[in-house]
Amino acid sequence: MTQKIKVAVSGACGKMGQAVINAVLQENDLELVSAIDVMNVGQQTGGVTIEESLEKALLSKQIDVIIDFTNPELVFKHTKLILEKGARPVIGTTGLTESQIEELKKLSQEKGFGCLIAPNFALGAVLMMMFAQQASKYLSNAEIIEFHHNKKKDAPSGTAIKTAQLMTQERAKFSQDNCLEIETIQGSRGGVTESNIHIHSVRLPGFVAHQEVIFGAPGQALTIRHDSFDRISFMPGVILSIRHIMKNNDFVYGLENIL
Ligand SMILES: NC(=O)c1ccc[n+]([C@@H]2O[C@H](COP(=O)([O-])OP(=O)(O)OC[C@H]3O[C@@H](n4cnc5c(N)ncnc54)[C@H](O)[C@@H]3O)[C@@H](O)[C@H]2O)c1
Repeated sequence: MTQKIKVAVSGACGKMGQAVINAVLQENDLELVSAIDVMNVGQQTGGVTIEESLEKALLSKQIDVIIDFTNPELVFKHTKLILEKGARPVIGTTGLTESQIEELKKLSQEKGFGCLIAPNFALGAVLMMMFAQQASKYLSNAEIIEFHHNKKKDAPSGTAIKTAQLMTQERAKFSQDNCLEIETIQGSRGGVTESNIHIHSVRLPGFVAHQEVIFGAPGQALTIRHDSFDRISFMPGVILSIRHIMKNNDFVYGLENIL
């Protein structure tokens, strides 16, 4: 019989961490060996005891893959630590900067361990990003509106940043024919990428993760929208990523690269 992939979940008590634990427990080729969180330490989840320290878990257990859904202040430190201790990170936590992603890529290549970072694990969201990239070839005016629950710390979302990056691969500058704009309330026009895509971040209770990419042209508009109503939408992507990273040991930024 082939060996099961030994999986640990960091941020185990969070909204995503709990959904990931439930998903891992349903897969025959995966074994949950550790759950790490600063909350509920010593309690049980998914048949393992919650432990406080990621470093201690890495030193005391054989772990193949660690899935991290914690927070933007921790994600860089955690990903580095996982690679340095010889496990493979699957990173869902958003908030990594471009230079941090570059540094993690180098470290993963030096260590020879795979690392997968995905700002969005939902297949529909990945398709939305790919369609927006495609539309950018033909339509030169575009803005992004993303909607999340009001406990999300980082803005704009990792998905919005990744979408803008993909769109910019097709077109260096958007919306160049706007008039000179004056904001009477600062920030009204949202954040602006180097390629001049405006990103608007909405934070309200009741939302999970939603995004619209709107293209405008004389007499018409194209709206590409995705909604994650439930965190189960992310789980097939997380499971696919665990299997991918075990088999391929490569560095991946974005789920679209392994579909
Ligand atoms: N990539 C995706 O598809 C995707 C989808 C949804 C959310 N996210 C991102 O995932 C992250 C987590 O989201 P959430 O809604 O589950 O947040 P959450 O606040 O519900 O959960 C975070 C968990 O991390 C724990 N934590 C804090 N410090 C820790 C530490 N030092 N070690 C271990 N655990 C620690 C917290 O106690 C909490 O249980 C966010 O960055 C969010 O934007 C990504």
